[in-house]
Amino acid sequence: MAIPSAWRARLRLPVLSAPMFLISGPDLVVGACNAGVVGTFPALNQRSTEGYRDWLDEIHDRLGPDAAPYGVNLVVHRSNPRLEADLAVTIDRKVPLVITSLGLNRELIDAVHGYGGRVFHDVTTLRFAAKAAEAGVDGLIAVAYGAGGHAGLISPFAALHEIRAIFSGTLVLGGAISTGRQIAAATLMGADMAYMGTRFMATAESLAVPRQREMILEARAADIVYTPAVSGIPGNFLRASLAAAGRDPDDLTPPDKLNFGTTDARAWRDLWAAGQGVGAIDDMPPVAALVETLRSDYAEAFASAQAARFA
Ligand SMILES: Cc1cc2nc3c(=O)[nH]c(=O)nc-3n(C[C@H](O)[C@H](O)[C@H](O)COP(=O)(O)O)c2cc1C
Repeated sequence: MAIPSAWRARLRLPVLSAPMFLISGPDLVVGACNAGVVGTFPALNQRSTEGYRDWLDEIHDRLGPDAAPYGVNLVVHRSNPRLEADLAVTIDRKVPLVITSLGLNRELIDAVHGYGGRVFHDVTTLRFAAKAAEAGVDGLIAVAYGAGGHAGLISPFAALHEIRAIFSGTLVLGGAISTGRQIAAATLMGADMAYMGTRFMATAESLAVPRQREMILEARAADIVYTPAVSGIPGNFLRASLAAAGRDPDDLTPPDKLNFGTTDARAWRDLWAAGQGVGAIDDMPPVAALVETLRSDYAEAFASAQAARFA
């Protein structure tokens, strides 16, 4: 196990509430951290670097003394004009965890290490995992088949096995993990922590709008479509949200230019990302209640796994 030792006493479950564009804000982050799981949000959920800094300050002020660490997602891609300014604020406020996506940057890794922070990098292919391991990240997040938003096509079994062979840092698994039993399964498969997006979107504290919540409650795995049509990078979306916006969900034509919030957020406002784990979601509890349910389900899963063990 390679959960950072400084985090262990503050975590009540080996879980990160994953960053979600237009969905995670201070309420969700504070709710998650105070309940004992890592809370995160994308810096781009605020329209300006000043707004981002204000959110960091608000989160800092609202965290309890025993809260789990919090993190931010920075999009490391040339289409993100705010990267430099957002990174400067991240360093100034000493954000404990930086989750990088869509690009790697060794200077960023060094800068975060410089103040004692950690960098986890999110990957959808094993090639990117190898590059990130070499660059010196502290954690790798395997975003496997069925994950909400940009997702890989790789089996979680294959991903964990191959990444573990080349990486001894914190190994995190994402993709359709919605229950405590699935968190337990992820750790039995070799992950140190689970990365859960869609399940945390379905909470009282998320910024999801009412129709989006209804769609999540109605949807099953078959209602998710894997398509590059929204951002230019293949990802999982609620089929019904594409249809409601007048799009043909089966038209896989990508947009003219990449679009993931760094350039034009409009598409994400109406076309809603969600993972195949929607089928296991039937409620919208406050985060603290969700974490309690996940905890008891997780404990029960280990007890029944022991009983079911063959031979
Ligand atoms: C609505 C939505 C928005 C997302 N936005 C981002 C984002 O801005 N940055 C990012 O790194 N990942 C984003 N993701 C991906 C999540 O961080 C995470 O990889 C994914 O939700 C895990 O799979 P799950 O939803 O099946 O639990 C998003 C996912 C969803 C569902």
